[in-house]
Amino acid sequence: MTFPFDRRFLFVTGKGGVGKSTVTAALALALARRGRRVLVATSGARERLSTLFGVAPFTAESRLVAAGVWGVRIDVDAAMREYGGMMLKSRTVYDAVFDSRLVQGFLAGVPGLHEWAILGKVWYHSTETDGAGRHRFDTVIHDAPATGHGLEMLRVPKVIVDLVPPGILRRDAERAWHDLTDPIRSGVVVVALPEELPTTEALELVEALTSELGLPIAAVVANGVLEPLFTPAERQALLAAVPSGLAQPGDVGSSGEAGLMSAARRAIREELQAEHLARLAAVAAAYVELPLLPHGAMSLPGASTLAERFG
Ligand SMILES: Nc1ncnc2c1ncn2[C@@H]1O[C@H](COP(=O)(O)OP(=O)(O)OP(=O)(O)O)[C@@H](O)[C@H]1O
Ligand SMILES: [Mg+2]
Repeated sequence: MTFPFDRRFLFVTGKGGVGKSTVTAALALALARRGRRVLVATSGARERLSTLFGVAPFTAESRLVAAGVWGVRIDVDAAMREYGGMMLKSRTVYDAVFDSRLVQGFLAGVPGLHEWAILGKVWYHSTETDGAGRHRFDTVIHDAPATGHGLEMLRVPKVIVDLVPPGILRRDAERAWHDLTDPIRSGVVVVALPEELPTTEALELVEALTSELGLPIAAVVANGVLEPLFTPAERQALLAAVPSGLAQPGDVGSSGEAGLMSAARRAIREELQAEHLARLAAVAAAYVELPLLPHGAMSLPGASTLAERFG
């Protein structure tokens, strides 16, 4: 299945450093090319998305960062302030007491409220409408925290829905959870590298997201894929040739053998990668492979190249 471009909310997560921000940027460009207005949202202290788009650092005010793509940085303190204000019903009262240690301590002590303030704010952007009632953005992509933290973040609205008594906090979480669990509307994009541990972790993440939380997976993205030099048949032939090649005493140290050995090493790498890719491809309806770019992917041309792979 091709990538589900029609979702309104995408939550991009995966192990640290696997390419979540890069995938977010590539995906945003792919969606914008289809005429969609896209908002990319991040909350990371060291957000790299602005570097990727070659623009000034993102701020709490969404700004156009590429054709059809807006960027916003969720200010955690501001999000908490807004949330606390809503919970205390009166902003004035809240502002008056926000700086008191008591209130800060209270908010910090509510487990997950910090995460929920961020996720809730990003989700809110996916519901925003203009004066004519039209959605401001067709798709909101959350460049979310890495695996453990990302999963924590997604757990919070469910915990609130399940455990918190009816009230403002639950009403909002219910609306968000309704959207997040709707496969027509939302989806998690799991990013992985085609290596043993990252693949296993990505599969565990997919399992936790689906079985435990009941969240739809929009796609699994295998990033940093080595473009194969050999066909599967060539790989097999190379691997079969190595032991017998080494068994020939006259060949040891010859340039022919060195060439064969390096080709065989590459074949082994490709063979292992193919196994990991097959495991990743098997767990999601939509599956995308992004090549390892020789010069890195920290630029708009790099992200544009990757965007084409979304089909
Ligand atoms: N397909 C690719 N080809 C080449 N380099 C890549 C590719 N994808 C990502 N990179 C590089 O890998 C590094 C990490 O990528 P990125 O910042 O997107 O990861 P991340 O998952 O967002 O990291 P973090 O967990 O720190 O937020 C960056 O230097 C990026 O340019
Ligand atoms: Mg990142």
